[in-house]
Amino acid sequence: MLSTYRIFLERAARNPGAVGAVAPSSPALAREIAAVVPRTGSPTVVELGPGTGALSTAIADRLPAGGRHLAIELDDGMVEHLRGELPWLDVIQGDASQLGALLADAGVHQVDAVVSGLPWSIFPGKLQHEILREVGGVLRPGGAFTTFAYAHALGMAGARQFRRRLDVCFDEVVTSRTVWRNVPPARIYVCRRPNLS
Ligand SMILES: C[S@@+](CC[C@H](N)C(=O)[O-])C[C@H]1O[C@@H](n2cnc3c(N)ncnc32)[C@H](O)[C@@H]1O
Repeated sequence: MLSTYRIFLERAARNPGAVGAVAPSSPALAREIAAVVPRTGSPTVVELGPGTGALSTAIADRLPAGGRHLAIELDDGMVEHLRGELPWLDVIQGDASQLGALLADAGVHQVDAVVSGLPWSIFPGKLQHEILREVGGVLRPGGAFTTFAYAHALGMAGARQFRRRLDVCFDEVVTSRTVWRNVPPARIYVCRRPNLS
């Protein structure tokens, strides 16, 4: 646990523009965000920016036996940690802005849910747009995309821009109440029916 936190901080210090957080997500936030993972059938779930795996375990806890869980992580230190600590997780090192191509290389063309831990509010608008377009391109009809935003930062330009972009990219965006049991407290967005135009 301590070593997980140490790795998170070390990678965050090395690459603040990609990690954008002071701590991994809490189990409470992880459970709520993983609620979009279907409990039946053989769903495919893709996780963006798993970091040290705080959301990965909650996703795995819900995933039925026939399900598949792939995780796209950019940072090589995080990838090494995940491969050592969560050997059951199918980790692909790469950039979420190349999601469609990365999944195609793994033989996956459509997914039932995309769970994101990416630090959207610190991304430039162009990158936000590219990744959301890729997400919309791989979601199966009826699939869901979910992510979170820190409550204290909702007024920041990048966070406001991201929230507006969600409304452009999805027909439905539902915002949760604040999840207080997280550092810092956060809200969850659940988005369905991508606008692919
Ligand atoms: C805030 S951390 C979240 C970690 C974890 N999901 C959590 O909730 O605790 C963001 C993670 O996204 C990764 N990341 C940032 N940009 C990325 C990109 N373009 N593609 C894939 N992963 C990225 C970072 O390396 C980092 O591990």
